[in-house]
Amino acid sequence: HLGGLKLSKQEIVRDDPTNNVPDNIFWKLGLQLHRRDHHPLGILKNAIYDYFDANYPNEFEKFDDLCPIVSTKQNFDDVLVPADHVSRSYNDTYYVDAQTVLRCHTSAHQAELLRSGKTRFLVTGDVYRRDSIDSTHYPVFHQMEGVRVFTKDDWEGSGVDATTYAAEDLKKCLEGLARHLFGGVEMRWIDTYFPFTNPSFELEIYFQEKWLEVLGCGVTEQEILKRSDRVDNVAWAFGLGLERLAMVLFDIPDIRLFWSNDERFTSQFAKGQLGMKFKPFSKYPPCYKDMSFWISDSFTENNLCELVRGIAGDLAEEVCLIDNFTNKKGMTSHCYRIAYRSMERSLTDEEINELQWKVREQVQSKLNVVLR
Ligand code: PHE
Repeated sequence: HLGGLKLSKQEIVRDDPTNNVPDNIFWKLGLQLHRRDHHPLGILKNAIYDYFDANYPNEFEKFDDLCPIVSTKQNFDDVLVPADHVSRSYNDTYYVDAQTVLRCHTSAHQAELLRSGKTRFLVTGDVYRRDSIDSTHYPVFHQMEGVRVFTKDDWEGSGVDATTYAAEDLKKCLEGLARHLFGGVEMRWIDTYFPFTNPSFELEIYFQEKWLEVLGCGVTEQEILKRSDRVDNVAWAFGLGLERLAMVLFDIPDIRLFWSNDERFTSQFAKGQLGMKFKPFSKYPPCYKDMSFWISDSFTENNLCELVRGIAGDLAEEVCLIDNFTNKKGMTSHCYRIAYRSMERSLTDEEINELQWKVREQVQSKLNVVLR
């Protein structure tokens, strides 16, 4: 089994000049954490399936093995992402070549499934984004997409127009899901924008003293339905982040733990069921290193984070801009604080110093900045 990949990894051509997929990301392809029944992500996926099976028997078709390597058409054009949208940039998305990306959301499969005649489905999969480094962000994470199409029979007689009907059904469905998973938890709806839905909403959940965005959703843009020959229909769609929900649900303090093979982590999920809280097995001390440099125009925080991740791997806990100023000559200086910490063991000073020296060296040679 190739883990949803159409080709084995050896066959995937990676020498395209536009390829920006680093080795550490490439090796994560095909791992499919969401298909492991004794992993928190698999447990959560199954619990969401249970909710849909109980409330909509035999309605939603489930997909969790679609290839994460998709065309830019699937990932962007098919869901109406504008040509100049930031998510298309090489700074935000991993490109295999100019027309092929690692999907940055499970919405990449919406249009094709609609075109093939499906009207109710759930798509779960690994998604990839270049991003910052902290306890809730990791360049590979998992989403579940849900789509439900309605026909006139559904909303006629409801007393409201089709869009209102779909929006109300959507919120009811997702609030029910949140209650099914969490029982009581503080939540709020936020109005937002997505290219593929209108109106659009986000659900946030209160966690670790902050509001955490856990899903995006909305009423599907008519244009998407039109392109799949469904002019007289209305639909809703949602995309939820499995890691974030699982962190809240199981009390998992750091997103890197999902990738841990340490049996002090994995054994806690052996039962394969909801209803347990993760017991942290240790708290090893973090080590902070600061680094200041003059940036150039091409500098981006995502590039810095990827470089740090490439050297330190999962030992990088957080990369945080702590100072930022521009001098009279117009030169801008950034000071970043890097937190190194292992979830599994103590790190030695030597080990951290060596990582930090490599980071300093590569920041200069690859990011075109001048260390101060
Ligand atoms: N694709 C969106 C994201 O990744 C989530 C979403 C899915 C929003 C479906 C609306 C509808 O953030």
